[in-house]
Amino acid sequence: MDTTCTFVLFGATGDLSRRMLFPSLYSLHAEGFLRDDQGIVGTSHRSSEDDAFRAQVRAWVKERVGEHYDDSVSDDFAKRISYISVDANHSEDFRRLRERLDEYECEEIVFYLSTSPSIFGAVCQGLKANGFSRAPNRIVVEKPIGSDLASNIEINETVAEAFSEDRTFRIDHYLGKETVQNLIALRFGNRIFEPLWNAQAIESVQITIAETVGAEGRGGYYDEYGAIRDMVQNHLLQLVCLVAMEPPTSLSADSVRNEKVKVLRSLAPITPENVEQKTVRGQYEGGYDETGGKASTYKEDVENEDSDTESYVAIAAEVENWRWAGVPFYLETGKRMAERNTQIVIRFREVPHSIFGAETNPNELIINLQPEERITLQIMNKKPGLTAEGMPLQELGLNLSLAEHHSARRRIAYEQLILDALNDNPALFVQRDEQEAAWRWIDGIVGAWKAKDMRPAGYRSGSMGPASKHSLTERNDHSWYV
Ligand code: BG6
Repeated sequence: MDTTCTFVLFGATGDLSRRMLFPSLYSLHAEGFLRDDQGIVGTSHRSSEDDAFRAQVRAWVKERVGEHYDDSVSDDFAKRISYISVDANHSEDFRRLRERLDEYECEEIVFYLSTSPSIFGAVCQGLKANGFSRAPNRIVVEKPIGSDLASNIEINETVAEAFSEDRTFRIDHYLGKETVQNLIALRFGNRIFEPLWNAQAIESVQITIAETVGAEGRGGYYDEYGAIRDMVQNHLLQLVCLVAMEPPTSLSADSVRNEKVKVLRSLAPITPENVEQKTVRGQYEGGYDETGGKASTYKEDVENEDSDTESYVAIAAEVENWRWAGVPFYLETGKRMAERNTQIVIRFREVPHSIFGAETNPNELIINLQPEERITLQIMNKKPGLTAEGMPLQELGLNLSLAEHHSARRRIAYEQLILDALNDNPALFVQRDEQEAAWRWIDGIVGAWKAKDMRPAGYRSGSMGPASKHSLTERNDHSWYV
């Protein structure tokens, strides 16, 4: 096919490409979002031929998209795909890549690095040496972009030697999720929330990302990173930003990202003096998995008997600015928890004076991001029926189930992000200064853990995390939402 616009995927035979990237590209193709002249070139160090690779991609896609798979659509999709093996450390391979791309007379190339960051430098140099780093070509980079601030800066500098910041797209796949974007719509597309969205009306914010899976299968990476770097530095802090940021002036990339970075810079540092009061680390022990079978321990999963990496972390964070001063943001994420659940709970303050002779429950706005996409507002009502005296109340939820309102299939978060990268729209990607501010805060926590020799507490697989997590909220007379 004649292509003038090409998507070049490094790491094309890796796990992310199989499970997420090719299925996303297929869906974009099937729904007509790809330009007619959009080509897709897979590269990895493995050798393969175009036809064999196309067949492999079709099998991956079929497995992932299930009932939405269509053979004839897949025939057309496969025509877009070609393959070339590239070893990032061989300059000769980049020359071959250039020759191949020259055949296509590409006007615009999006390079997507779904590889280990250890080869980002070599790939960027190879691309630059062959004239690929010129505008309008862009680069998309996957996490982990470093394991602390220093290594993050180093990687970003390496990439910056080839691609300018406005042409560097850093992925946080949470930003591609429908419901995460919906947070922006909820906050800024409705008048009713904004007057209440502050410390005067809100008592606390809780953000939980609980997973049932463990660290099995990716022990080497995970054991080095732990929950704080794997989930908090990126996904959890992005959710904090969307909940806490000031209204941006527009939806433009700069407006939104500049507001997010201000939130990250306002996070109160966690230090050796307060780390024991403000954080909890946990590591799962045995127990039972979702099917009732005996679950392995974290140490078994990562094959490291001495590991003291956390698979669970809870933090009482504070956003120190006028809007949020004094409102705890309780953040929590863990593997092998009782259920898969990503949710944000905005707990409002109690009514200043109860006329009912009994306490009323504070209102809560509960935003469920996954597995269900639901928004619930808990409000107090009169209990129906006759009463001889007083007015008994009950708490009920106003429920908006997003699934009921759009019957469309559930998208892979990468679909939106790949589409945006192809359309040169960086709004849902992470800016360098945002990332650096996040790492600075995370480095503070990791350093404080080290200084205090704070080891993870054990928790049972399939539980809600370590019991000590309650001390974080109880200290402020609060409790975790269950
Ligand atoms: C990834 C983490 O970034 O996000 C994984 O590396 C985690 O450890 C995953 O399981 C969670 O993503 P999702 O979309 O399943 O919530």
